[in-house]
Amino acid sequence: MREDIPQHGAIAALAKEYRDEVRTARLAADDPRHLEANSIPGLRAVTTFAGTESCISCHKTATEIWKKTGYADAFATLTRRKADADPN
Ligand code: HEC
Repeated sequence: MREDIPQHGAIAALAKEYRDEVRTARLAADDPRHLEANSIPGLRAVTTFAGTESCISCHKTATEIWKKTGYADAFATLTRRKADADPN
């Protein structure tokens, strides 16, 4: 991800192909039937990103501190660099 280190074309293409596949891959965990075997009433079969807004009501001070750190922009950085589908 460092822009001062030149990318090897073939490796970069391979990485792009891999990320595209990860973005569209249907995982076993995404299959609602995967959860039904041990179904718990009220538990959602598909997980979603809760979003920052859902944490503020109880964690106001932590949110204000977090917003001033680089972590607040971390996912936007990954998305901008098309690295949001990296599993590590
Ligand atoms: C309804 C209130 C409420 C909401 C909403 C909430 N939390 Fe919490 N959270 C708590 C409470 C209560 C604790 C336990 C605090 C303690 O034990 O000192 C806690 C603990 C935590 C801890 C552990 C902190 C520690 O020092 O160990 C983290 C991390 C955390 N919450 C993150 C989140 C995130 C991220 C969200 C939003 C997706 C969120 N919380 C939403 C009430 C909430």
